[in-house]
Amino acid sequence: MLILGIESSCDETGASVVRDGRTVLSNVIASQHDLHAEYGGVVPEIASRAHVERIMPVLRRALDDAGVTFRDIDAIAVGHRPGLIGALLVGVSAAKALAWSLDTPIVGIDHVQAHLYAGLLDDDTWSDESVFPALGLVVSGGHTAMYLLRGPLDVMLLGKTIDDAIGEAFDKVSSMLGLGHPGGPAVDRLARTGDERAHDFPVSRLSRESLDFSYSGLKTAVLYEARGKPNSDGSFERDGWDLDERMKANLCASFERAAVRAITLKIERALDATDTPVRTLLVGGGVSANTRLRAELESLARARELELRLPRTDLCLDNAAMLAGLAHRKLERDGGDWLGLVASPMSAIR
Ligand code: KG4
Ligand code: ZN
Repeated sequence: MLILGIESSCDETGASVVRDGRTVLSNVIASQHDLHAEYGGVVPEIASRAHVERIMPVLRRALDDAGVTFRDIDAIAVGHRPGLIGALLVGVSAAKALAWSLDTPIVGIDHVQAHLYAGLLDDDTWSDESVFPALGLVVSGGHTAMYLLRGPLDVMLLGKTIDDAIGEAFDKVSSMLGLGHPGGPAVDRLARTGDERAHDFPVSRLSRESLDFSYSGLKTAVLYEARGKPNSDGSFERDGWDLDERMKANLCASFERAAVRAITLKIERALDATDTPVRTLLVGGGVSANTRLRAELESLARARELELRLPRTDLCLDNAAMLAGLAHRKLERDGGDWLGLVASPMSAIR
């Protein structure tokens, strides 16, 4: 079975053809980073317009790369929640038009749930019995949350950020230090040359048993360290432009240490608190491309004797392959959705 996936929830227009829910035949991602860079973040209206311009060329390219035509497609999968509503509507409208004209089922997929499936793609060796129960972690620009999964479609929320997402913190630290947008990869690169002990930034723990996350305090701590305390008029002691490369690298490394430690600490807490015999750690979302996070998750998984499933970099970031893969399972279990499928800014997993 060939499923064509469509992704348009934020600032990447994606299309992908996946065979039998596992094999990625093509994975096309048109990024809009250049359009949003001057604003230091994603501008929703610009994102929607760019999706409209890119969606057809991206779909055609995904079919060409897979060596198939529209007529070969058995179902259309689309990320219909959560995300920027105007951006989601572009993908959902395209998916409906295609499903109607090709007379195929349409399958609406939750983007966050799909991130948890990314690490299972392009691998024939697993079965539900070998992977689940699993602990899931989604770390991205819009989400930071942990889940207990009893199957790819059986997902329970354990904890989530009470303020900023971890990716948002990376992006803000990058913009404070003048490293550009998106900030995650830039902070990741510079952190590798810095001293992680140069600054003692707070690791968010919240209450003793909490499985939630918080990144606003860490973000503010980095701001104060870079620019000094705020004055009563909202300005800062320093403008921050006096920082040299070594100082910036030390700030990045120390920030990353605290940001990543908050994640591993909550995973350990969740593992300690559950009676469920967790086999696997399923990780997804843009920040799972981070070098330090990947290394620390590897050692945590080794210590806890868990199998770690980290997607390759192109499947960490927003992509349509994860949607098309999970849609295979949803189609098998529930059948297709109807053409009245709606887009929603909120995730269905609570
Ligand atoms: O999953 P994603 O593409 O979009 C959302 O669903 O939000 O994640 C994008 C986020 C951005 O905040 C970006 O800065 C971050 O992932 N990111 C990284 C790295 N690569 C991307 N953060 C840290 N280290 C990286 N290497
Ligand atoms: Zn995402």
